[in-house]
Amino acid sequence: MELTFNHAFDHVKRSGIRRFTEVVKSVPGAVQLTIGEPDLDTPEAVRTAAKLALDAGDTHYPPNNGRPELLEAISKFEEGRNGLRYAPDEIILTIGATEALFISLFALLNPGDEVIIPTPAFSLYESIARLCRAVPVNLPTEDNRFQIDPAALAAAITPRTKALVLTSPNNPTGCVYTRETLDAIHAVLKDRPIFVICDEVYRQLVYTDDFTSFSAFADMRDRVIVVQSYSKPYAMTGWRLGYVMADRPVHDKLQVAHQYAVVSAPAFVQAACMEALKYDNSADTALFRRRRDYVYKRLTDMGLDVQKPEGAFYMFIRVKEFGMDSLTFCTRMVKEGKVGLTPGVYFGCEGYMRLSYCYSDADLKEGLDRIEAFLKTL
Ligand SMILES: Cc1ncc(COP(=O)(O)O)c(C=O)c1O
Repeated sequence: MELTFNHAFDHVKRSGIRRFTEVVKSVPGAVQLTIGEPDLDTPEAVRTAAKLALDAGDTHYPPNNGRPELLEAISKFEEGRNGLRYAPDEIILTIGATEALFISLFALLNPGDEVIIPTPAFSLYESIARLCRAVPVNLPTEDNRFQIDPAALAAAITPRTKALVLTSPNNPTGCVYTRETLDAIHAVLKDRPIFVICDEVYRQLVYTDDFTSFSAFADMRDRVIVVQSYSKPYAMTGWRLGYVMADRPVHDKLQVAHQYAVVSAPAFVQAACMEALKYDNSADTALFRRRRDYVYKRLTDMGLDVQKPEGAFYMFIRVKEFGMDSLTFCTRMVKEGKVGLTPGVYFGCEGYMRLSYCYSDADLKEGLDRIEAFLKTL
């Protein structure tokens, strides 16, 4: 008897970041700089709100899209903090940005549809697209300082193009799309039936005053989906909470996928979500900015080629000159140099490696000392 599975899974593997982190963990004494999760604790007020809700018996099914008072609070927060105008009935509380991305792509894609993914990119988009039997189309940005080249974007569009993913600030480059880039993308897309998924999970970890969201283009509101997460700005990765915002007709499709996939986010964490929106994360942003400056200086002092990130907590370091592919380079570095960074190939871009600087100052110093020592052996 032969058991068969959904063939959409044939070319989708577990995340390369996770797999390589397991390799790093298996090397005794290795410093790990692979995962994108703040080394901070969830703010105390947020934890307390969840505990109180649990003790008060807040354990029954909540409304599918989230409690009205929370959706109202998110709507106000987004308008006040980010200038985005989404009504409570255009927002869905999700199980992390991961679910938000999943339901967004799932709701849009028919088999054979193409999704343009500027690379290097977080690998989740490609995997979800493949699971939907759609076709991920890479749009390399490496030669354009990781900004999108409008001519290249226009050339990548075909009659089957259904969506473009914009991740700003970016994982793995930390790059923030400039106003000029966004204007140029807008000019290419404004008259086309193409959705834009704005993955802005690092929006509150920005080190420039110039951040603009593509969702600012009101004339494309019917085609824009904004994905947010509680994971990164509030050190809540393990809570698995995020939200998605979209124009009502799009929202109404997403909520169907959300309802059948998860019903709702858990009940007793929703009070904590309200509390998190009140948290001032400026000290945490300042901490990551200081770490960015330290790591950037150390890497450039080593003679490495890296672009200074303007957001998130990653650096994408060029290692092409060493004559090895990124997996070989990172595997040798963790085994011989005892420091683990993620190979660029897992972000669809060879010749680079990603360093996460959301680790402690001590780990960063030790990790960088080891990178420096390893490079001297080559
Ligand atoms: C760009 C990007 N989008 C989405 C996610 C998923 O975030 P969440 O923890 O909210 O599912 C991540 C996580 O690393 C990410 O880097």
